[in-house]
Amino acid sequence: MIGKICGTGSYVPVEYMDNHELSRTVETSDEWIRERTGIVKRHIAKEDTTVSMAVKAAKQALTDSELCEEEIDLLIVSTISSNVILPCTACEVQKEIHAINATCFDLNAACTGFLFAYNTAQAYIAAGMCKNVLLIGAECLSTLIDWKDRTTCILFGDGAGAVVLRAEKGNLYRTVSCSDGRKGTALTCDMGDYIKMNGQEVFKFAVRQVPEAIAGVLKENNLKEEDIAHFILHQANRRIVEAVARRMNVELDKFPMNLQEYGNTSSASIPLLLDEMNRQGKLKRGQKLILAGFGAGLSWGASVLEW
Ligand code: UT7
Repeated sequence: MIGKICGTGSYVPVEYMDNHELSRTVETSDEWIRERTGIVKRHIAKEDTTVSMAVKAAKQALTDSELCEEEIDLLIVSTISSNVILPCTACEVQKEIHAINATCFDLNAACTGFLFAYNTAQAYIAAGMCKNVLLIGAECLSTLIDWKDRTTCILFGDGAGAVVLRAEKGNLYRTVSCSDGRKGTALTCDMGDYIKMNGQEVFKFAVRQVPEAIAGVLKENNLKEEDIAHFILHQANRRIVEAVARRMNVELDKFPMNLQEYGNTSSASIPLLLDEMNRQGKLKRGQKLILAGFGAGLSWGASVLEW
């Protein structure tokens, strides 16, 4: 059995901050941010929390899936920014949407979190442990940012994306999934502190490892670049996406982006983009996509998704 996406949803706070507004509080400029990252604005939660955003995205995905909440038997939230340490965000979401039959847990693998949660869901389905999975990536990163640090505050944003996976007959794709804790100091957030990042180190790591992971996952599944309709990368930086496309020798228009609108939303970025593309009618049944994530840990990987 394989999990097929039968519903998507997303939510971002209505409030946002554009580059011009940021440049009034830290020494930066719209020009620098656009040139170095491609980001134009980011949505920032005022009233919303990680849970409330996750719930709104989840409700949309459930409606789109035409499944009812009681049919969900596994609910995973990927997040690094839960409201509280206990209970986990997934249980809080369960309570709000009445998914009373779901096993619920959170997963923290930073910006690779949604990818690892997707792989986890596929493994549960393949093992016959569940049938219908609600997968959410939700982040309120604005609470983990030092708004006086121009090297990080320009990058991140808040939001949530969700997908519902339903078990169908089919073969499980092999994945490429990697972590290297020895390089963890490149991107950290201590308890009670803010996100700190060696931007150049993370940039170089992403540009090196992501094409390798994608090449690996294509080989593992006997696929070629031309078999893939879209490469859905974690939305961290336009220049990273461009560099990956260049290294793979694949045209950039196969790499959709929405980071200009939302900034880097960590584990929410991939489901946010999937939902946007789904609603725009850009995804067709049977198409193969590649999901690729990278970030703190360091962790990275790539998986095949058959739409
Ligand atoms: O989601 C997890 C994964 N995270 C990522 O993928 C992030 C990866 N890294 C990046 O995207 C990029 O490294 C950044 C966008 C964070 C930074 O871009 P960069 O081209 O690597 O810039 P840099 O750190 O080399 O800084 C270049 C210059 C420095 O000044 P000097 O030393 O050349 O005088 C910085 O102090 O730009 C300065 N700078 C800024 N200037 C204006 C750093 N931040 C800013 C800023 N505005 N916001």
